[in-house]
Amino acid sequence: MAASNFPRHVAIIMDGNGRWAKKRAMPRAFGHKQGGEAVRRTVEAAKTLDLECLTLYAFSSENWKREEGEISDLMNLMRRFIEKELDAFVANGLRLKIIGDYKAFAPDIVDKLEDALERTKDGTRTLAVALNYGAQQEIARAARLAAEEGEVTPAAIDRHLYTAELPPLDLLIRTSGEVRLSNFLLWQSAYAEMIFMDVLWPDFGEEHLRAACETFAKRERRFGGR
Ligand code: FPP
Repeated sequence: MAASNFPRHVAIIMDGNGRWAKKRAMPRAFGHKQGGEAVRRTVEAAKTLDLECLTLYAFSSENWKREEGEISDLMNLMRRFIEKELDAFVANGLRLKIIGDYKAFAPDIVDKLEDALERTKDGTRTLAVALNYGAQQEIARAARLAAEEGEVTPAAIDRHLYTAELPPLDLLIRTSGEVRLSNFLLWQSAYAEMIFMDVLWPDFGEEHLRAACETFAKRERRFGGR
């Protein structure tokens, strides 16, 4: 059971697959494959730690700039991941949510994702996966939709973000030692705590997630007050 001051919603920028592989003189694809294992471990850890929502940055709108071969490795990994993990997601009461413009992916992936959304819709704990996601694009889209309704206020923008029905973001983690947000959840991070960890994503697991949640629990959050 999680401590009462543990975060409800944790998001992770999963970084360092390439460097992890390079250190072992292995191809980047091997790093991504092991990154997939870390995703599986972390989803389980989120359940152990009783998190309500885990959001993972799996493919950014800027990732299309990578080499074709790497993109296709990531797509194949995604196909296999859904095939392998979906039954366990359903059995574990996970509800899948996608943030981002996932319809730009290949039709067979879109079908698999929509099947996964449908099969997990009654889950009580959320795994949100950012796919073809960019925060600036998300905010611009939300502002456009809010304007169409007549009023562009922070609350109206909130209602049109992909994350509208998720709990507020409490904690954002980035692995691999890089200290930047890379166009991830810019709006939602307004009051989130941030933790930058010196671990490459394929090495990430329950102890890292637990340590980050414990650090979060000790921080005093002010939300602009004193
Ligand atoms: C960063 O490593 C990681 C990504 C490009 C995206 C995350 C992808 C995975 C964890 C693979 C599995 C995902 C799913 C949902 C099955 P990098 O290549 O940027 O690392 P580097 O900065 O060391 O080169």
